[in-house]
Amino acid sequence: MTRSNYRFICIALFTFALVVSTSVSTGQSQETAKPFEARFWQFLMGNNYKNWAPAPGQDGDFYSGQVPHGALLKMYINRAAASDVDGLRIGSVVVLENYRSDRSLKTISVMYRTEGFNPSANDWYWVEYNPDGTVVKESSTGQPQGQSGTAMLVSSKSTKLLGKSSRCISCHDQAEGSDFAFFNDREDSSVAGSQKAETLSLR
Ligand code: HEC
Repeated sequence: MTRSNYRFICIALFTFALVVSTSVSTGQSQETAKPFEARFWQFLMGNNYKNWAPAPGQDGDFYSGQVPHGALLKMYINRAAASDVDGLRIGSVVVLENYRSDRSLKTISVMYRTEGFNPSANDWYWVEYNPDGTVVKESSTGQPQGQSGTAMLVSSKSTKLLGKSSRCISCHDQAEGSDFAFFNDREDSSVAGSQKAETLSLR
């Protein structure tokens, strides 16, 4: 082997090693840099949200809901939310489990108030999870029962229900006090939101 051949092989081997090591480390960093919604799901699981306080006036058992949420609901609020239910300060997290009438879990709707995220809508981050922690796509929500609400279907099947989702915001903007949350609107906290809405529409 000539000297220049030897040099060429050395350079080629070195380049090969560099490429391999770079691609391995890139792969690793993609592993750790999970999207926010995945890390947030891990946070909810790690913090065992089912042990959080139920919403005021509830005992942690099922209560009846309405479209687009579940036929049956369970709500949990974290310490920040529980400490000031009317103010719902930055850091508040509200988890709403949506169940079918047969008590099987369909989806988990979450609101997380984080400073500066979306000032025009009270800084809520919205996300709708499947029970396995993946995010619900826009077209498959709105029909918790799987039958009604077909008119709400939209063509884009790839839009995930998360972030500043206009789907969530356009309805939650009707909540009292411009805080985009319904559960704290109840004058008498023992009255469920759906019952209250009924009372209002009778007037
Ligand atoms: C068509 C109206 C509507 C849409 C759309 C909607 N919600 Fe709601 N949401 C409600 C109502 C009404 C309640 C109160 C339910 C109850 O407790 O009776 C509620 C309750 C909640 C709660 C519990 C806190 C609260 O406000 O009482 C969370 C969390 C929530 N929704 C998240 C979401 C997310 C995330 C989306 C979008 C993927 C969404 N919602 C879309 C009407 C809506």
